[in-house]
Amino acid sequence: MSEQIKHARLTRMIHMGLALAVTLQMLGSLLIEIFEDTQTGKDILLYHQYIGLVAFVLILLFWLIVMIRNIGTDPALLFPWVAKARRAMIWAELKTHYATLKSRQIPSFDPHSPLAPAVHGLGLLLILAMAGSGTIYYFINTGDPDAGGLVGVVMFIHTTLANLVWVYLFAHAGFAVLHHYLKDMDLREMWSLKK
Ligand code: HEM
Ligand code: HEM
Repeated sequence: MSEQIKHARLTRMIHMGLALAVTLQMLGSLLIEIFEDTQTGKDILLYHQYIGLVAFVLILLFWLIVMIRNIGTDPALLFPWVAKARRAMIWAELKTHYATLKSRQIPSFDPHSPLAPAVHGLGLLLILAMAGSGTIYYFINTGDPDAGGLVGVVMFIHTTLANLVWVYLFAHAGFAVLHHYLKDMDLREMWSLKK
């Protein structure tokens, strides 16, 4: 097993809360659709709004932690896009992974990979936009998500980004579970409340 990054307990706690909240939101959104125009659908939408507001607070805390913590991933690794050398490293890693996949093998987990933290950084941006658009909706809505004007714009952003959140959730959690079972990494490191 490769040597895994030990994330600080606060990072792990916020990650856990956010991962659970986002997963609940995504599954809940399916129920909202199934029970559309019924009292159950309205009740689930109410829970969706409250859990969404919690997710918004958690993502703000995650950003704050990333900016001020001493232990954990360097912010330059989470947001490498402005540095040409870092972009080149990510591109090189993508090409290596493509070659590995072409030879019908699974790319191994590398704790020093520049690609993984870059994707995590995109995840932080995505969830900020998702929970942020929902929160703006909460404060400006008139009770109808299908209303036009600013409510319409905010809901358009929210529902469009929902597709990317599915991709992120499946890819990020999927790779984590896959590498856990391949014994490349231990999920219990990130999902632990121990010091
Ligand atoms: C959509 C919800 C989620 C978001 C926004 C999210 C976001 C993140 C971020 C930003 C990091 C990097 C933390 C850092 O470097 O400080 C991370 C790491 C990690 N996440 Fe998630 N995550 C989510 C869901 C999940 C789920 C459901 C799992 C497991 C099944 C998971 C497993 C992990 C693991 C194992 C790491 C550590 C990876 C490493 O050390 O390289 N995440 N996640
Ligand atoms: C990270 C947090 C959140 C996630 C992952 C999330 C996810 C989703 C998803 C997947 C949908 C369904 C999109 C579609 O119809 O294709 C949705 C719809 C919606 N969300 Fe969120 N949401 C979050 C936060 C919020 C917040 C904070 C609010 C408001 C307080 C909110 C209010 C709504 C509303 C009003 C709808 C439309 C429901 C309908 O179809 O009538 N969401 N959300």
